[in-house]
Amino acid sequence: MADNFILSNGQIIPGIGFGTSRISQADMRDVIFDALESGYRHFDTAHAYRTESALGEALQDAIIYNKVSRSELYITTKLPTYHMRKDHVVSSLRESLKNLRIEYIDLYLVHVPASIKLESEYIPYPSCSADDYDYPDIVDTWREMEKLVDAGLARAIGLSNFNASQVERIDNNARIKPVVNQIECHAYLQQNKLVDFCKRRNISVTAYAPLGSPGLQIRNNGKYWDLFEEPVISKIAKCHQRTPAQICLRHLLQRGLILIPKTENKDRMRLNLEIKNFSLTKQEMRKLSKLDSNKRIFSFNGMKDHPEYPFSDPF
Ligand SMILES: NC(=O)c1ccc[n+]([C@@H]2O[C@H](COP(=O)([O-])OP(=O)(O)OC[C@H]3O[C@@H](n4cnc5c(N)ncnc54)[C@H](OP(=O)(O)O)[C@@H]3O)[C@@H](O)[C@H]2O)c1
Repeated sequence: MADNFILSNGQIIPGIGFGTSRISQADMRDVIFDALESGYRHFDTAHAYRTESALGEALQDAIIYNKVSRSELYITTKLPTYHMRKDHVVSSLRESLKNLRIEYIDLYLVHVPASIKLESEYIPYPSCSADDYDYPDIVDTWREMEKLVDAGLARAIGLSNFNASQVERIDNNARIKPVVNQIECHAYLQQNKLVDFCKRRNISVTAYAPLGSPGLQIRNNGKYWDLFEEPVISKIAKCHQRTPAQICLRHLLQRGLILIPKTENKDRMRLNLEIKNFSLTKQEMRKLSKLDSNKRIFSFNGMKDHPEYPFSDPF
């Protein structure tokens, strides 16, 4: 299994990236230095995570101390839902670049297709209501994203949390094609139809929350669930003498997805990368595919009445 993926624009992206949401400012430097030492070169952030500045500072220090060069890094950030109006797109990326202390972004994604007003920036997505909604045309937002590539500020542009019809609308109208759709994807939410749809259009898929985001302790159907406690996964893990987390990640990698697991623990950073030198059998892949049960963690519930809410469609 290749370490890198090639995107439709020819750009090379490391197949296993490093998620940075919910890492505190105080811990970021140590975490990023550990991640670099473990071998990560692909980092995922977003304006809305409020981690860009701390990540930027850590990466800048790492470059100064010759631990890595800018050209070896692959950095993704995202246009927030409160900056989707035409006039805000360029200034939003400029702000992100300033936060990250870099001249260009490797990949810039539209974070969520549904937009909220600028003044609602600090309202957490799950607490949004119709009063916060804004209604820019996502194709107009995309035209501004394309200008960022023209200006050399973004090397590639893409989508996140877009459903198939929204992907189609952007793709059909794009002068510069989206290279990625970053979506929640793990054993309990496998998203086969959306993944196939994107792949048919030459759009790579990045799986976020690939471990089911256990740190969030999200309630689902009145129960907390944990992929690491899933008997099918534990049994396969035992068979391969791997951890359940490695089985979860290997399953996605073997499906051809880019992954961005997050961990602040150096041992787990290493374990999450050590998934390339074993493979799951066809039968194991089949057993894992049967775990698909539409359990979504990041449902952006506050946006559910927005016309561009992505998760009302079956895929
Ligand atoms: N586009 C979007 O809308 C969106 C939404 C959510 C997330 N994301 C991106 O995706 C990244 C990953 O998602 P996520 O952080 O929500 O979920 P995740 O990567 O599925 O899970 C992270 C959690 O798993 C634990 N963990 C990591 N490796 C482990 C291992 N080997 N064994 C046991 N536990 C392990 C971590 O704890 P420790 O840190 O204690 O190890 C952390 O609590 C985010 O950081 C973010 O960059 C994007």
